[in-house]
Amino acid sequence: MKILKRSTVLMTFAFTIFASAQETTKIKVSEESEAPVISKHIYGHFSEHLGRCIYGGLYVGEESVVPNTAGVRNDIIDALKELQIPNLRWPGGCFADTYHWKDGVGPKDERPTMVNRWWGGVTEDNSFGTHDFLNLCETLGAEPYLAANVGSSTVQEFTEYVEYVLHKGGSPMAEWRKEHGRDEPWKVKYWGVGNEMWGCGGNMTAEHYADVYRQYATFMTDWTNSDGLFRIASGANVDDYHWTEVLMRDVPKHLIEGVALHSYSFVEWNEKGSSIDYSEEQYFSTMKTALKMDTLVTKHSAIMDKYDPDNTIALVVDEWGGWYEVMEGTNPGFLYQQNTMRDAMIAGTTLNIFNNHAERVKMANLAQTVNVLQAVVLTEGEKMLLTPTYHVMKMYNVHQDAKLLPVEFDSPTYDFEGEALPAISVSASKDESGDVHISLVNIDAHKEHTINLSLEDLDVKRLSGTILTSENLQDYNSFETPDAIQPKEFSSIKVKKGIAEVELPPFSVLVLKGE
Ligand code: AHR
Repeated sequence: MKILKRSTVLMTFAFTIFASAQETTKIKVSEESEAPVISKHIYGHFSEHLGRCIYGGLYVGEESVVPNTAGVRNDIIDALKELQIPNLRWPGGCFADTYHWKDGVGPKDERPTMVNRWWGGVTEDNSFGTHDFLNLCETLGAEPYLAANVGSSTVQEFTEYVEYVLHKGGSPMAEWRKEHGRDEPWKVKYWGVGNEMWGCGGNMTAEHYADVYRQYATFMTDWTNSDGLFRIASGANVDDYHWTEVLMRDVPKHLIEGVALHSYSFVEWNEKGSSIDYSEEQYFSTMKTALKMDTLVTKHSAIMDKYDPDNTIALVVDEWGGWYEVMEGTNPGFLYQQNTMRDAMIAGTTLNIFNNHAERVKMANLAQTVNVLQAVVLTEGEKMLLTPTYHVMKMYNVHQDAKLLPVEFDSPTYDFEGEALPAISVSASKDESGDVHISLVNIDAHKEHTINLSLEDLDVKRLSGTILTSENLQDYNSFETPDAIQPKEFSSIKVKKGIAEVELPPFSVLVLKGE
């Protein structure tokens, strides 16, 4: 089943490149007893100390006029709860390997300041620290994913962090935590052992990092002896397959639970273009890099299969999303961008890729939650809005912890100036209550596509759903019109003899529920 599913996805992709546009696209959704469960953690998020993600975004401080709980905006708490975010990664990113956790605990007025050297050179007062983050995760019902400092830390600082967070009592760090007002340890399973160690984490070679990783991981202990630790090694930059190969080869299995991968979508890395004012050519290029995720995941997984045929180590795509130029007049180091239907296309297609690779991809984190890169929430003073990406993530959360249903289809192509991309992307799942969900994306900027859904294997009589689309590809939700792009009800259709036909408008995301 493993191999079958991957090759189906691959074959589909290869086919689309050569297939000519066809009137109707046939998609067969079936049931496969050995299919994996789509981990809810694929729907994770990432909040870094970067620009206005934490300070002036999530965290406004207890004295703020903006309604808050322990300094975190209530409107964002509500929005993230509604989104059912399963996990949240913090405090970086590149910031993580400059962060010394002890500076962010204890009385806030006694905490030292620090300069955020990666992002805008701003001075931070450390008022949002480990207690603030972990308590926020408890409020959200999300599992914390702590990306801990390796690049400018020591094994002692790192292991004391684990002890501070997880030890019950009677150890120096646990007692220090209690002095700071938290008696019980938190539940933190996910630990990142550094970030981008090939770059901002220390410019290490894969071989050197593999050794450093082994050293740090050796001293990490699950003090609670409950759920075990899930240690995630800093992973490859995009298509650096050598990095994955070395980690998988050189790190013993008992020391590692996950290997990360970072890949962003953009027009051109050195000429990213505006987030709102872009041409079709720029849209096409962005989608090309977004769809490359399928190849990346396939190839990194193949390396992992070689060293870990029993699939005990997860591929964790803990940074993904669209990256454009910052909005005019904003700090270039703050990475603040708007979010249009292009971002909805990136979100829909990327999540479909992760779902279809659920066997190896067990976790992923969209970059980033608030006011940075492909954010789900934007704020301006007291105002807050939900982006098209937020709506896609919410529509897709029906796949969380549901069983993958394999799909077979030949996509028509989205053609632009002699190049072709697969226009349609699909994934499907069946949840515990037996409900079937199918998420479809049409990235074509102009063409509507008729989808002929074959559901003969499934007991589905009727399909209803939610669709996200807009008049123009460049449309977005602004603070003046925060509800311009909203998911709409998709009129329900009958399934006759296992077949249903749906029309998929240009640049749209549709999630169907079968009953
Ligand atoms: O998400 C922004 C930055 O992108 C992160 O800090 C870093 O890990 C990556 O290069």
